[in-house]
Amino acid sequence: MICYGDEAHITNIAVDPMLQGHGIAQRLLHDQLLVAKEMGGRAVSLEVRVTNWRAQRVYARFGFHPVGIRRNYYAELHEDALIMWTDDIRDAAYRRRLDAIVASLPDGIRPA
Ligand SMILES: CC(C)(COP(=O)(O)OP(=O)(O)OC[C@H]1O[C@@H](n2cnc3c(N)ncnc32)[C@H](O)[C@@H]1OP(=O)(O)O)[C@@H](O)C(=O)NCCC(=O)NCCS
Repeated sequence: MICYGDEAHITNIAVDPMLQGHGIAQRLLHDQLLVAKEMGGRAVSLEVRVTNWRAQRVYARFGFHPVGIRRNYYAELHEDALIMWTDDIRDAAYRRRLDAIVASLPDGIRPA
């Protein structure tokens, strides 16, 4: 993640295929979003392949919503990127969203 001013940008997130589907990406995103807020972030953006439904579902859970398309962003794959942004991560409502996500994570993944 890169933080600049009141904006942050998630550059990459990946979980070992053997360990996917256990909430690890959600834990990672949760922690990154708290860091973004601590660093003065107001909103967070990312790009994701338009066909990467799995990642998009996870991002949607965190309030990322599509705002546009970058044509041929993944040039080697001839694939477009969906640009996604959160609303204001400093809002109490956003904090409640994060709390609800972590509460649903399994033991061992959920923060202590
Ligand atoms: C996208 C990616 C990061 C998700 O990682 P992950 O750790 O599997 O994600 P999570 O486990 O937090 O959530 C994925 C799904 O598992 C489900 N899940 C989480 N914990 C679970 C549990 N204990 N039992 C059953 N399902 C669970 C989540 O509800 C979610 O379901 P959904 O697919 O219906 O949304 C991972 O698939 C990946 O690394 N992909 C390749 C790289 C990539 O595409 N990165 C994104 C680039 S922008």
